[in-house]
Amino acid sequence: MWEYSDIVKEHYKNPKNVGSIEDADAIGEAGALACGDALKLYLKIKDGIITDAKFQTFGCGSAVASSSILTEMIIGKTVEEVKKITNKDIADKLGGLPPEKMHCSVMGHEALEDALKNLEGDKDGEKPTPKANKDKIICNCFSITEHAIKEAIEHNGAKTVEDITALTYAGGACGRCKGNIQAIINTYNMGAKDKKEELNAVQFILKVNKVIEKHIMPELHKDCGGIELVNIEGKDVYVRLTGTCKGCRNSNLTLKNFVQAQLREHVDDEINVIEVE
Ligand code: FES
Repeated sequence: MWEYSDIVKEHYKNPKNVGSIEDADAIGEAGALACGDALKLYLKIKDGIITDAKFQTFGCGSAVASSSILTEMIIGKTVEEVKKITNKDIADKLGGLPPEKMHCSVMGHEALEDALKNLEGDKDGEKPTPKANKDKIICNCFSITEHAIKEAIEHNGAKTVEDITALTYAGGACGRCKGNIQAIINTYNMGAKDKKEELNAVQFILKVNKVIEKHIMPELHKDCGGIELVNIEGKDVYVRLTGTCKGCRNSNLTLKNFVQAQLREHVDDEINVIEVE
C-alpha cells in the first residue's frame, strides 16, 4: 500500500480549480487515456501573469492532487516564473509522492509545458492548438516525447528504461520504443561524463583534497607511500610525495600516470601535477 502525505490526501478529497476555462489563452495536454491518466490544463493570462488556471483530469488520486496543487502554484505567477517549475517541485509541494506515482507530477509538468509552448505559438500568430510544437514522439503507445524522457533523466534521476517507464509510462506497453529510450539514456550519460562541474577556487581546492584522500592516498598507502598537497595555483597542483614514494625513481610516472590522471578524471581535465621537495 502506498503512503500519501496529508497534502496529497487533502488535494485529492478537495481538489482546487477543477473545470475548464472557455476563453483560455493557453491549453496544455499531457498523458493519454490509453494509459489511464490524462490531463488538460487551461490558463488565463494577462500582462504575462497567470490570472486563472483550471484542469480536467482522468486519473488516480495522485494525478488529481498533482493537477490541483499545480494550479495553486501557478496562479498569480508570471509566465517566466512558472517556466522554471519542474515536476519535482510539484511532488515536493505535495510533501512527496511514492516513486510509483511520480509520473503524475511528470504529467502535470508536461501539461504546463504544453500550454506554454502553445502560448508561444500563439504569440507568433499561430493558432494555439494543443500538442503544437511538440518534439519527437519516442513512445507511440503513450505519446511520450523525447523531451519528456530527458526531463525524467535530468530532474528525477532516471537511470534505466524501467525508471523511465515508471515515471512516464514510455515503454510500458508493446515495448518497441525501449531501444530508443535506452539510446537517449546512453547519450545523456555520455554528455554528463564530458560535462565537469564548474567550480570556484574554494570548491576546486576542496575537491582536489577530497580526491587525494579518497582515490589517491589509499592506493599509495598500499605500497607504504603517501602524498601531501602543498599548493594550488590555477590548474597547477603542487604535491610532495612521502614514504616510499619519496625519492622513488618511478615518482614521475606515479605522479603523471596515477595522481594527475585521478585528478583529471574527478576534478578537471586540465590539471597539471608538479612535485616539490
Ligand atoms: S511504443 Fe512505447 S510501449 Fe509501445
